Amino acid sequence: MAADVRVVSRDHFGTASLTAFLELMAPFASPVVGLATGNTPGPFYASLHREVGHGRASLADLRPFAIDEYVGRADHPCSNREFFARHWDTIPGARAVHQFEVTATDLAAEAVRFAALLEAAGGLDVVVLGIGLNGHLAFNEPGSASDSVSRLTALTETTRESARPCWGDATPTHGLTLGLAEILEARRALLLVNGAAKAAVLHRALAGPVSSECPASFLQEHPALTVVADDAAAACWVQSSREASD
Ligand code: PGA
Repeated sequence: MAADVRVVSRDHFGTASLTAFLELMAPFASPVVGLATGNTPGPFYASLHREVGHGRASLADLRPFAIDEYVGRADHPCSNREFFARHWDTIPGARAVHQFEVTATDLAAEAVRFAALLEAAGGLDVVVLGIGLNGHLAFNEPGSASDSVSRLTALTETTRESARPCWGDATPTHGLTLGLAEILEARRALLLVNGAAKAAVLHRALAGPVSSECPASFLQEHPALTVVADDAAAACWVQSSREASD
């Protein structure tokens, strides 16, 4: 099925992301939801916070799971754990996010534990994703197979460059991530993309060859994908769609 791609102005990115999210969650009584972190979803979490605060949405039945984590200090302000503390735990009624424990002595075993926890919950109903400049999904870097599972993974230089402004000298070399298998098995997928820097990779993901070289391209085969992109991020995709229909 073709993806539902919603192109919105920068100012409406947060509300449009939230609208899509609430639509995707609606069919599930107690949805298991994978949550993205990073710069992209900031406006989404802000909208969610506002709507829940006003009683127009509720997270009480939502079972949240992280989709990845840096292997670094868990209490570092740039860890995903701290991201959730700021952007999720502050939302009234939100349940604690199941997260990778990077303090585990055996990180490979920790990835297995996390996957088993997710499986016991029934797998993901909805996954909220960002996309890396290199096409990664969570920390599934280029080269990741579509059937890859939850694991410890080495971060590419591109990903480390993106992390460096926040992490500085402590920029992690590794991450723990859900695999593409667990992500692509989500019953509904929501990809959030904003900013001109992501225009080329979004086009590649939606219209380029489906290949491990761009892990996000596997989303083309997802049966229920919604994309919310701001004008800047959608520019290449919109242009090529126009050319294709001329
Ligand atoms: P970003 O990260 O939102 O910080 O650009 C997206 C991602 O790497 O998935």
